Amino acid sequence: MRVVVTGGAGFIGSHFVRTVLADGYPGLAGAEVVVLDAFTYAGRIENLDPVRDDPRLRVERGDIRDPQRVGEVLAGADLVVHCAAETHVDRSISGAADFVTTNVTGTQVLLQAALDLGVGRFVHVSTDEVYGSIEHGSWPEDHPLEPNSPYSAAKAGSDLLARSYHRTHGLDVVITRCSNNYGPHQFPEKVIPLFVTRLLDGRTVPLYGDGGNVRDWLHVDDHCRGIALAAQKGRAGEIYNIGGGTELTNLELTGRLLAAVGAGEEMIERVPDRKGHDRRYSVDWSKIRDELGYEPRVPFDRGLAGTVAWYRDNRSWWEAVNR
Ligand SMILES: NC(=O)c1ccc[n+]([C@@H]2O[C@H](COP(=O)([O-])OP(=O)(O)OC[C@H]3O[C@@H](n4cnc5c(N)ncnc54)[C@H](O)[C@@H]3O)[C@@H](O)[C@H]2O)c1
Repeated sequence: MRVVVTGGAGFIGSHFVRTVLADGYPGLAGAEVVVLDAFTYAGRIENLDPVRDDPRLRVERGDIRDPQRVGEVLAGADLVVHCAAETHVDRSISGAADFVTTNVTGTQVLLQAALDLGVGRFVHVSTDEVYGSIEHGSWPEDHPLEPNSPYSAAKAGSDLLARSYHRTHGLDVVITRCSNNYGPHQFPEKVIPLFVTRLLDGRTVPLYGDGGNVRDWLHVDDHCRGIALAAQKGRAGEIYNIGGGTELTNLELTGRLLAAVGAGEEMIERVPDRKGHDRRYSVDWSKIRDELGYEPRVPFDRGLAGTVAWYRDNRSWWEAVNR
C-alpha cells in the first residue's frame, strides 16, 4: 500500500505521516508514505524529523498546481490523503490569490491526476468553515455551504470539486470536514500556538472583538484518526464531519491558556475584530461515530497541557519562524 500525503510537512499532514509510519492506524500498517509538499512558510521538514530515516518514507518537493510534478508523484499511489492548502484565514483576508490557486486549482490538478492514474481512493481533507457560521445547533453533512472568508470559500470550491469527481467520473473520493485543530507542530499564526508562544515570551495576547466567538476544539491526533478511519472504511462519495466535542468561546480558551502558562488577565490585549469573523462553528459528527466508530479520545485539558508543554520544550522550532 502506498499513501501519498499532500501537505505532509504541515501541521496535520505531518502528524498523519508520523502516525502511519509508527503503524498507529491498523488498516495502514506497513504502508509506504510519499509526502508531496511545496514547503511554503507552513511546511517544515523538521516536522518529519522523527521519521526522516524511515525507509518507508519518501519526501517529494512539489507544487500541487503543477500537473507534471503531481503526475510523477501520484504514479503508483493506492491512496491520496490531501492536506495541502493555504490555511490561515487572516492571510486570505489580506491576499486571496494563493488561496484560490492552491486550494481550488491545486485540488483539481490532484483529482485529475488521481483519475488518470487510477488511484484507488482520494481523501479530501476539508473544514467545517465551509458551512459558514451557526448560532444554535450543529451542522449535518448535508447542510448547504455558506463560506464567509476567502479561505473557506476556496476550501468550499475544492470540497465541491472533490464531490464532482466522484459524481461525474466515479473517482473514489471521501471528504472529511473537521473542526478547529490544535496540538504540537502547529504554525504559530493560529490562535493556540500564537497565544502560547507569546505568553512564553512574556508578551500580551491579541484577543479579537468581544472574545465571544465559539470554536469546537479537536486534538490533531483525534482528527488524523478520523481521517484514517474515513480512508479505510468510509463510503465512496460520502462526507464525514469530524468534531472534538469541546466548544469554548475565545475568551474561555484564552483563560485556559493563561492558566496553563501561569499568566494573568492583564496579558489580554483587546484588538478590533477580524473582518467577517464567523461567530460559531459546530459540526454534528454522529455520522462518523455511528458508521465508522469514531470518537475523540483526547480530553481537552490533557491535550492542551501536552501542547503547551511541547511549545515550552521546543522553543527552537518556533523561534526559527517569522511570527
Ligand atoms: N488546522 C486546522 O484547524 C484545520 C481545520 C480544518 C481543516 N483543516 C485543513 O487541513 C489541512 C491541513 O491543515 P494544516 O493546519 O496542517 O495546514 P498547514 O498550513 O500547517 O500546512 C499546509 C501544508 O500544505 C503545504 N502547501 C501549501 N501550498 C502548497 C502547494 N501549492 N503545493 C504543495 N504543498 C502546499 C505547505 O507547505 C504545508 O506543509 C488543510 O487542507 C486545511 O484546510 C485544518
